[in-house]
Amino acid sequence: MSETTHGTDETREGRPGREVDWELLRARAAEMMRRAYAPYSRYPVGAAALVDDGRLVGGCNVENAAYGVTLCAECGLVSDLVAGGGGRLVAFSCCDADGERLMPCGRCRQLLWEHGGPDLLVDTPLGVQPMTAVLPQAFGSEDLAKVGPRAEPGS
Ligand code: THU
Repeated sequence: MSETTHGTDETREGRPGREVDWELLRARAAEMMRRAYAPYSRYPVGAAALVDDGRLVGGCNVENAAYGVTLCAECGLVSDLVAGGGGRLVAFSCCDADGERLMPCGRCRQLLWEHGGPDLLVDTPLGVQPMTAVLPQAFGSEDLAKVGPRAEPGS
């Protein structure tokens, strides 16, 4: 495996016994990037991830004349994950037009947290890092579960 950034079992493997093929993920992200629809920003992004059942999922950014409607590459990837049968994201990589690793935007870090949780490995420009480093003290479903059923507002 060519990943040398941290070189620990934690970052090389998506889970015990499974080594992540980061070069394959990066190649898939670059392939996705070439399919982007980004006529407004001219900033194509591609994303790819390994799922816990061994599937690869991917996405590219899809922009809109109403700029705020733009879908990030991670949105497409999460749709691919869910529509393809669900599962948990194990390892994730995304890239820009030059194929350089890209940090997911803030909103997309939350999307990745929902579907990968703290153990998801992210291919950052500083090396492979777990989601706990990419989105510290994340808000998630456990926070919602901490409270019981709430009274209807106004009742
Ligand atoms: N973009 C993504 O697809 N993912 C990110 O995490 C960062 C930003 C896209 C959205 C927009 O089409 C373009 O990059 C410029 O912001």
